[in-house]
Amino acid sequence: MPSILENFSLKNLNTFGVEAIARWYVEINSEHDLQVLLTDAKWFDTERLVIGGGSNMLFTRDFNGLVIRVNIKGIEYVVKGTEVYLKAGGGEVWNDLVNYAVDHNFAGMENLSLIPGSVGASPIQNIGAYGVEIKDIFYECRAFEIETGTIKIFNLNDCVFSYRDSIFKTQFKGKFIITQVTYKLSTLQNINTSYGAINEELLKRQISTPSVKDISQVVSHIRISKLPDPSTIGNAGSFFKNPIIEHERFLILKSEFPDIVGFKIDETRFKLAAGWLIEQCGWKGMVFGNTGTWKNQALVIVNHGQATGLEIFNFSHKIIESVKSKFGIILDREVNII
Ligand code: EPU
Repeated sequence: MPSILENFSLKNLNTFGVEAIARWYVEINSEHDLQVLLTDAKWFDTERLVIGGGSNMLFTRDFNGLVIRVNIKGIEYVVKGTEVYLKAGGGEVWNDLVNYAVDHNFAGMENLSLIPGSVGASPIQNIGAYGVEIKDIFYECRAFEIETGTIKIFNLNDCVFSYRDSIFKTQFKGKFIITQVTYKLSTLQNINTSYGAINEELLKRQISTPSVKDISQVVSHIRISKLPDPSTIGNAGSFFKNPIIEHERFLILKSEFPDIVGFKIDETRFKLAAGWLIEQCGWKGMVFGNTGTWKNQALVIVNHGQATGLEIFNFSHKIIESVKSKFGIILDREVNII
């Protein structure tokens, strides 16, 4: 059983780089470790928090409970015809897995290059970027049920994926720990270039039939140009979700704000670009004490070095208030607030 550390600093384990102390901290390397840990009566009444890459959370306080970091490793795959079943431990770094797939020329994950975080976290919020979401490549996952101490298998339908959401954030919030994920990829080069910025960059590079590697490189290039690197400037990617509103509401907003950026999702709903709403309120690139928004992407809140989690949280509240008063839209935080 791995050792349990006391009063452990989480500063290096969250991409915002804010200080927070865990009363107890443990890293688990296998499902067996989890079983031993969580069937020990000592922890039954202790508040628990599971972390992976710490790339989607903001600590606003110390955590007076047990922080469990999933560090289960291992990558393997099986090829059946043109289908590839790529399996990875929940503690693998997401982008390492993407690179592995790209190096093997397996198609499906390349649009999700350079997203920070761990494999185990990828289905929880159905991570997505550049026209692809986890739901498009998800096959199944193994998850440890805390209450029963047993492993359950979730297939695509079981996860109830939607935009930045899954059953692990709703009905089963805090009830399961994802230990392994299997993705369904392809040996065929099914490339998704639906996102405008990808096409523009391919055109610039004069690539007409892109490979999986080309897309990965293009996406990485776009991300680096827009998003701050968490290893040099603390952030958790998009801080808010893009709000989804009814068609009629969109038309009303459009008549008042003709430049508003929104994308049709289906016959009745539009997704608004929260970055645009925030920029229109004057927040883009603004430095506010130790925090602020990123100069190239207003949807990203950054830590300029010494921010506390509470400072970042309070800043996000100011943004919510101003977007609400200008547009009547209430932004929903994408980042988990602890
Ligand atoms: N925009 C602005 N100002 C800004 C930022 C954006 O006007 O400061 C407008 C622009 O019109 C731009 C549009 O918003 O064309 C969309 O911006 P972008 O392509 O950067 O995407 P996003 O909607 O802001 C989402 C995801 C990102 C993902 C990108 C690319 C969410 C909450 N965020 O951002 O995911 O990388 O699309 O697919 O859905 C993350 O979740 O952490 C994340 C980075």
